[in-house]
Amino acid sequence: MALVSLKHLLAVAQNENKAIGAFSVGNMEMVMGAVCAAETMNTPIILQIAEKRLKNSPLELMAPMMLSAAKNSNVDIAVHLDHGLTIECVKQALDYGFTSVMLDASLLPYEDNVNATKEVVALAQKYGASVEAELGVVGGNEGDTAEHIITCTDPSVALDFCEKTGIDALAVAIGNAHGNYPVLPSLRFDILDEIHKTVSTPLVLHGGTGITDEMFRKAISLGIRKINIATASFDSLAKYAKAYCDNTVIADYFKLSSAMAEGANENIKRHIEIFNNIVQ
Ligand code: 13P
Repeated sequence: MALVSLKHLLAVAQNENKAIGAFSVGNMEMVMGAVCAAETMNTPIILQIAEKRLKNSPLELMAPMMLSAAKNSNVDIAVHLDHGLTIECVKQALDYGFTSVMLDASLLPYEDNVNATKEVVALAQKYGASVEAELGVVGGNEGDTAEHIITCTDPSVALDFCEKTGIDALAVAIGNAHGNYPVLPSLRFDILDEIHKTVSTPLVLHGGTGITDEMFRKAISLGIRKINIATASFDSLAKYAKAYCDNTVIADYFKLSSAMAEGANENIKRHIEIFNNIVQ
């Protein structure tokens, strides 16, 4: 088992009618918790980090760790740049050996999104890496910037976008948002259904935190093959760390580190179980 491309994992997901979990990581404990969860469940995963998170978790430290964890794992793992904002960062990730990248040009006018994405596809091809792009706007935010207002993906342009850009994965906006939802989201499965009927490109669901198991299953039945989970893992890690600190007089670093890894691990295992979509 090994470091693999996103394209390969999406084909596996397609064949097995499931989704691959793409788990955001921000430190060593999260990487260890995620890989341990994947190995326990004997399931491939995607390890990812978003450009906006690099202030806290620099790429020059995270990249070697994520790649080494993937190479040494006994399950297949893709290493992905999530929400790249600049071509420089995308290139850095590719130079480190990331097997896929996303340039998020979703806020740009349609033709500019197409052109920026085409540029990334041409660059990634030189590295044999896969590319994800977003059409429409996923709500919420990644990091501490302003919240994005949701604009659902227009199914009538999805095919044109995929054909013109040659991407390997299309992130859709169907009422989903990053971060904790203030109320249970109501996802536009009618739009997802239309996109799924129009394009054969594997689809990606961002904003996985707070989506119910039933909604995940429905999304998978309508072509979602990659599901991003970030906030729920960060929250679970913080909760386990706080519980450990609250219950001890003198905190021990090594026990705290184990608690953090376990927090990430528990959340990731729970999601892998749903995404494997095993019908009992
Ligand atoms: P959440 O933080 O809502 O889980 O979203 C993750 C995500 O989509 C990363 O791109």
